[in-house]
Amino acid sequence: MRKEIIAIDGPAASGKSTVAKRVAKKLNYKYIDSGAMYRAVAYYMLKNKISLEDIKNHLDEIVIDFDVANNVYLNKQDVSKELRSEEVTNLVAQVATIKEVREKLVYLQQQLGQEKGIVMDGRDIGSVVFKDALVKIYQVASVKARALRRYEENIARGITSNLEQIEQEIAKRDYEDLNREHSPLLKASDAIEIDTSTMSIDENVQEIIEIFRKKVK
Ligand code: DC
Repeated sequence: MRKEIIAIDGPAASGKSTVAKRVAKKLNYKYIDSGAMYRAVAYYMLKNKISLEDIKNHLDEIVIDFDVANNVYLNKQDVSKELRSEEVTNLVAQVATIKEVREKLVYLQQQLGQEKGIVMDGRDIGSVVFKDALVKIYQVASVKARALRRYEENIARGITSNLEQIEQEIAKRDYEDLNREHSPLLKASDAIEIDTSTMSIDENVQEIIEIFRKKVK
């Protein structure tokens, strides 16, 4: 069967990466987390004390790779864990507003997609990176539902957190993603919207697989 591209966009904590990974596994496709690439740039800035104004002059120093287990490598070093740190999370939305950073990462993402057979999640995959993707999903969930998921994930990991604070952080990230000048979070006109507020992960995965199967027919 012909290999295709599946783009999954949506706001923070809408369950994109969990379902994207599972969809990729079911179809024997590669999963690519485009947010991790923005996080890798943020991590490089923190490590090397590079400012938001100056990062455009350092982009050639940054090489990002993934392995088959979805680990992320920055200049050949596995930084998968570091990319989830609070410092990186606090900086990354600002990094994602920089035009030169976006241009470089969009180019890399398009290179990674050349072989097709990929599921990529992010904010602008269906609207900018792969405008001709066969399947474009725009996944949403209420702020309350997303905050509760994050809160429960934290409990499962043994981390105590404050639900109200998580809600505020998610609302703030939505605002930043929706209001930036370059490639804001945007539903492509041909994307299919899925509201996952009351859906289980299995139902969510199944829905995307069904959309995919209808499209390839
Ligand atoms: O999905 P995430 O939380 O790992 O994304 C990290 C940041 O990168 C977030 O602020 C949105 C931004 N991002 C983006 O602007 N475009 C993408 N394709 C993916 C992520």
